[in-house]
Amino acid sequence: MSQPEPRLAPCIPLPLEDKALTEIIEKAKDWALMHGVGMRDKNHFTKDAIQFAPFVLLPSPFPRQEFNKAIELQTVLNELMHKVAHDEAFLQRTLQNALEVDEFTANLYNIWVKVKEEGIAQSVTLGLFRSDYLMHGPDNNKLKQVEFNTIASSFGAITSHLPTLNRYIIRQLGHGDIVKNMPENRALSGLCTGITDAYDLFGVPNAVVVFVVEEVSYNICDQRFHEFEIAEKRPDITIFRKTLNEIYEESSLNDKKQLIIEERPVAVVYYRSGYEPAQYPTQREWDARLRVERSTAIKCPSIGYHLAGTKKVQQALATPGVLEGFMGAGGVTGRVRDIFTGLYSLDFDDSGERAVEMALADATRFVLKPQREGGGHNVYGADVRDALLRMRHGRERMAYILMERILPPLVKGYVVRPGASVPPPLVDLVSELGIFGVIIGTKDKIYSNKQVGHMLRTKLADANEGGVAAGLGALDSPLLVDL
Ligand SMILES: Nc1ncnc2c1ncn2[C@@H]1O[C@H](COP(=O)(O)OP(=O)(O)OP(=O)(O)O)[C@@H](O)[C@H]1O
Ligand SMILES: [Mg+2]
Repeated sequence: MSQPEPRLAPCIPLPLEDKALTEIIEKAKDWALMHGVGMRDKNHFTKDAIQFAPFVLLPSPFPRQEFNKAIELQTVLNELMHKVAHDEAFLQRTLQNALEVDEFTANLYNIWVKVKEEGIAQSVTLGLFRSDYLMHGPDNNKLKQVEFNTIASSFGAITSHLPTLNRYIIRQLGHGDIVKNMPENRALSGLCTGITDAYDLFGVPNAVVVFVVEEVSYNICDQRFHEFEIAEKRPDITIFRKTLNEIYEESSLNDKKQLIIEERPVAVVYYRSGYEPAQYPTQREWDARLRVERSTAIKCPSIGYHLAGTKKVQQALATPGVLEGFMGAGGVTGRVRDIFTGLYSLDFDDSGERAVEMALADATRFVLKPQREGGGHNVYGADVRDALLRMRHGRERMAYILMERILPPLVKGYVVRPGASVPPPLVDLVSELGIFGVIIGTKDKIYSNKQVGHMLRTKLADANEGGVAAGLGALDSPLLVDL
């Protein structure tokens, strides 16, 4: 779908002349490769090489005021999601209908119910969150929340390097005066401190940290940087990388409900996998998840955080009065409500029917979202109408939420992709901001609540989604502008 104005001006005058563009891209690619701005090649997989990850040559403009707003709201949102995750009645009420038709969410939910019945062995939870935003062009480029990720929030590590890459390029092009408008990004160290703080809170000598990973990790740099950072700062901490299947085979619970792997207790379990159905091919993976959840290990995320990150919860929070119930009626609640865009349930009741009618009347204004993570599951544009006509009388519609489409401003720029011809065309791009947050606490006490950094990923203006690992988006960093 092509989108109308508004536009933001690129950070320097474009286009660049072909020869200069080709030269700078060669430098930029080498910089990226030599600093781990990389991913494994999905087409020719080998553990012996990495490719550079797709990136945007020049930093994308982002309104300073909106950027600062997102930064300021992060700890508020962290706390909100922490409260949501610990509100049993709210989660039960909110997810009830979706569970009937969504087996994946139901499996997570059943684990949650089971461990609650048995008694929670570890009351401390660790959240490494990312709140995602697009600017809404028709509303003065105001920030609107796309979603809130509570599991496997990625790219904090690689994007910590992006400002340095973009600064290098900008200076090489002779525009060093603008780099002062590129905010520092310390997401990697902030996220890792979350893990090590949780480790220290666990406080058992000889304990280890476990990263739960996929069978094959394409986004290896982003994950490994966390391991390297922790190894550098805390050489006393051992990290294991394990798949859910390996956890099933190699772990056990001892009489103190400690999770034991290779004869060592596990302090923290950090999930970089486990957020989509394909990552649970058999019952073994579900059994592994349950075993971890039953243990004293501090989970990142806990099953409660995972459920709090569902689209259904996001939609419920936008229902009138709900936010106030969690946060009171004060000023900051209004600021959070301001970043929400229209979100509607598709349950079989009056408001659900109204939402269906509204979307059928003008489908291009909306996005349909199931309870899924990892990109590629949403329905856009004319497909929204087809999907609604198909599901209208079927219960499967309760697994979806309806969301107003956000229309971000366009910016001209260059995307650098592995295998693509150089020089690349000058294209229309849109950017999505993610802010990272860390929270550690129990139901009643919050030990740590921080905003730790950001990421920007940018996609072609006519692409619906911009997942970098999915091959659609490109890594970027913001250049703050005063509009
Ligand atoms: N309301 C919206 N308006 C415009 N674009 C949207 C909207 N919702 C989602 N998108 C686009 O689709 C992408 C994926 O949506 P979303 O983040 O909700 O799904 P996800 O599967 O949870 O993705 P992720 O892997 O990033 O967690 C977003 O990054 C954004 O580019
Ligand atoms: Mg998500």
